[in-house]
Amino acid sequence: QSLKKYNTFGIEASAKEFVAIQNEADLATILKENQQKKLFVLAGGSNMLLTKDIDALVLHINNKGIEVIDENDDFVWVKGQAGEVWHEFVVWCMERNFGGIENLSLIPGNVGATPVQNIGAYGVEIKDTFVSCEAMEIATQKTVTFTKEDCNFGYRESIFKGRLKNKYIILTVTFKLTKKNHKINTSYGAIDLELEKTGIINPTIQDVSNAVIAIRQSKLPDPKELGNSGSFFKNPVVPIEIYEKAKLDYPTIPHYPVSETTVKVPAGWLIEQAGFKGKRFGDAGIHAKQALVLVNYGHATGSEIWAVAQNIQQTVKEKFGISIEAEVNVI
Ligand code: EPU
Repeated sequence: QSLKKYNTFGIEASAKEFVAIQNEADLATILKENQQKKLFVLAGGSNMLLTKDIDALVLHINNKGIEVIDENDDFVWVKGQAGEVWHEFVVWCMERNFGGIENLSLIPGNVGATPVQNIGAYGVEIKDTFVSCEAMEIATQKTVTFTKEDCNFGYRESIFKGRLKNKYIILTVTFKLTKKNHKINTSYGAIDLELEKTGIINPTIQDVSNAVIAIRQSKLPDPKELGNSGSFFKNPVVPIEIYEKAKLDYPTIPHYPVSETTVKVPAGWLIEQAGFKGKRFGDAGIHAKQALVLVNYGHATGSEIWAVAQNIQQTVKEKFGISIEAEVNVI
């Protein structure tokens, strides 16, 4: 089975065995029957780089459904099945005027993957509206509920990337969204600029969603047209001394405060300054409008993209003394 259409980088790699999971019962059966096999969980395939064929049974999580499970005058609890496409989930909520995830419009991937790395954009993270998720333990086929506290969310981090990595498969995610008095978050300057362009003064959640879509479409490549996995690297959090040292040579280096002793530096800026923006090495390249995004111009292999990534890491390290780590899962 080819995995090309199951990963947004559009990398040609194959799976030894492949099965699409439509519901919880299916998953329990498959897990029980294949206890001795190596498993590989594939959700939306939007955050991984395949550098080799997968010598395992690939489980494609494809359960569908969105429902309101509770509500009061102000809030609504919406549960999405893991296999729902995230942006379609956002649109479903926007159509019903449910607020809280509008800033996360157009992020590639599926609902089930959102807690794994606490997806975020434009000043909002999934943890801000996340209530709980249900996940099946691979070893026992028991489904348990994880609360927000259980998930240990951090910047692009959760317990599912840490201690419980490869132990559970997320089946549903529940969010608590607003029905009125929406908290419009335009703290991220780009949104305000975009709204200004359209002359909107009191934006609705739909306006914010539209603004985010416009910004993303202007900077980030559409995986259907140009293979990619969004930000390839995380924005590094560095000790202030390291930042100060880099600032001596590069006075315009941007930074955001994180704690008293650390700052976050945009990796996109570092990569652009290192001269990689828009560069192309064979079919592997660095997006011309956002240097944090690596792209596949057609037939790049995962190893070719990974080689470019390592070249970037090394050059950035030599130039600024700052290490940047991959945000995508390199397989
Ligand atoms: N920058 C450059 N050159 C570039 C790209 C960025 O100088 O080529 C500078 C910008 O000028 C700006 C700063 O870097 O000062 C930040 O850029 P941007 O607003 O584009 O956001 P980012 O930090 O590069 C992060 C997320 C994105 C998310 C945006 C918006 C990470 C790893 N990435 O990118 O998430 O959409 O903020 O909130 O945190 C993703 O995770 O896949 C993703 C796309």
